[in-house]
Amino acid sequence: MKLKESLLSRRDFFTGLIYGSLGSVAAYLAYPVVRFLYYEKKLPLPKAVTITLADIEKLSLNSAVYFQYGYLPGILVRTEAGEVRAFSAKCTHLDCNVNYKPDTKTFHCACHDGYFDITGKNIAGPPPKPLLAFSVKQEGDVMVISHPEEGGAEAKKA
Ligand code: FES
Repeated sequence: MKLKESLLSRRDFFTGLIYGSLGSVAAYLAYPVVRFLYYEKKLPLPKAVTITLADIEKLSLNSAVYFQYGYLPGILVRTEAGEVRAFSAKCTHLDCNVNYKPDTKTFHCACHDGYFDITGKNIAGPPPKPLLAFSVKQEGDVMVISHPEEGGAEAKKA
């Protein structure tokens, strides 16, 4: 048996296809923005993370390594004197990740050429405030890194 006419005209089919494709592209582009604005910032941060002293001692003096503090990227620096400092690696301008430059002992944000000194203080470029500094404390054979607003006794293995 043959239908006399289709239930959907060719025009309706292609119109639906175009709108469906545009909707998919819009969702694809909007997802990371929505996730950034609403989802990640509502995730709870851990009370603390720990890094073993053995791992820290593998780090050369005057160098840095990234670590993860919940959803926040962190950067841990071992100064020339062997002191350990930890900061959020997110630039305070527009959230790009900073990297450590041993030659100048500064943190650099390549997005808009922002600079922070070894204490995290913004010293050049557009960053409006210092890097978020984590508190670092030695407990036995681990370094406990905690958020200034979240710090507590519960530590989670990094
Ligand atoms: S995001 Fe770091 S200087 Fe703009």
